[in-house]
Order: sequence, then structure tokens, then C-alpha cells
Amino acid sequence: MSQELSPIDKAKFVAAKRAVDFVEDGMRVGLGTGSTAAWMVRCLGELVRDDGLKIRGVPTSTRTAELARGVGIEVITLDEAKWLDLTIDGADEFDADLNLIKGGGGALLQEKIVATASDQMVVIADIGKEVETLGAFPLPVEVIPFGWQTTKSLIEELLISMDVLGREARLRMNGASPFVTDEGNYILDLHLGRIGNAQQLSLAMNQMPGVVENGLFIDICDVVVLGYGDGRVETR
Ligand code: 5RP
Repeated sequence: MSQELSPIDKAKFVAAKRAVDFVEDGMRVGLGTGSTAAWMVRCLGELVRDDGLKIRGVPTSTRTAELARGVGIEVITLDEAKWLDLTIDGADEFDADLNLIKGGGGALLQEKIVATASDQMVVIADIGKEVETLGAFPLPVEVIPFGWQTTKSLIEELLISMDVLGREARLRMNGASPFVTDEGNYILDLHLGRIGNAQQLSLAMNQMPGVVENGLFIDICDVVVLGYGDGRVETR
């Protein structure tokens, strides 16, 4: 299958294929969201169908839930699972400490809840996601629709007080309307350029009443499985 793929899809596919080696019979597995995670769900579906692998999956979005059911994975809720053995998910950026930016696909809230409720988080990524310092990718922040413009102003003030390089917060759109998450919230994408102190920024933003969660995943990821366009795979 991988031979017909573009280099970027091949990188995502080989990372996903390697990551499913972490999955064992009987596990409760968090299923991430995005194009790389979709490869992983398809690979898991093949193992369920062809090898009789028995797992229960907790999806992090309605999109992933539909895909997982479609490939024959038993889908349960996080509350039914209570705790997960493993979560496999993609990322928009990762650094040398395996801290991440996530939420490019708008699923950061469920993704963070699921990853935090897992013994292990494995991230699958193509080489383009590796950065020295987080922040080139706009940081998604999920906010309550009520008073979102006030929340945006408060975030911008926080960025100034923390001396963050870029300070522009843009409401994510879906055509002419705001993009709405699975939880009914909006997303502000923060164009920061470089995030000097990711942990401090994450904690400060999450203190604001209108902020639900942000896309910085600090000390959550355990392993990154990195795919290359030529089919090589590395583990960090
Ligand atoms: C969705 C995410 C995705 O994992 C992230 O955007 C990476 O997506 P892709 O694998 O399509 O590059 O955080 O909310």
C-alpha cells in the first residue's frame, strides 16, 4: 500500500504502522484525530480484521469514532473505559523534550483528556513536525463562545505581559462561520512564532474563565514515532 503514496503520506503511514506495534490484545486504546491518526486507525482495523486483535478504542472526535467503527474497532466512551493503556495520536509540532502543539484538527480538548487518562501516549509524526522551539505552528486555544472577544483580548494582554514574540489571536473559521468543536466551543489560533516558556503560558491561559483548554501538551507524550518520506522510521 505504501508504495503508491506521496512522500508525506508514506511518512505518516510508516509511523502509524510502527506505532500499532505498541498495541497488545485486550488493551483500551485512545484513538487520536487527524490524517496521521487516521492511518493508525486503519492499521488497527486491519489487525482487528485479519489477526483477530481484540481492543476497545476511545476516539477523540466524532470523525475518528466514525472511522474506527467503519474499520471494525469496538468503540467505547472514556467513562466506560475509565482508564486507558495507551493513546496514539498525531501532533502539529514536537520538540526535543517531546512537548507538543496539538489541535490543528480542532480536537485538542478530547485529545488532551484522553491522553492524560492513559498509561502511555505515543505520538506519530512525519519529520516536518519536529521543531527546536514550539510556536511556528499557530497555537490552538479552545474558548467558550460566550464573550469570546473578551477572552481573546485577555489572551492578547497576557501575551504582551509575558513578552511573547507574536501576539495575534485569530478566530478559526469554517467558511463564513466560526469553526465549532465537538464540545460546541470556538478555537482561537495564536500566531506566536516562538514559545519561550510553554508550561508557564499553558498554565496562565488555562486560568482564564473563558479558556477551556489549550493545545500545548507538556510532559504528556512518552514516545514519538517519526516517519520519513523514504519509509524510514525513528523512535524518540
Ligand atoms: C487534531 C490534532 C492532530 O493530531 C494534528 O493536527 C496533526 O494532524 P495531522 O496528522 O493531520 O498532521 O491535534 O486536533
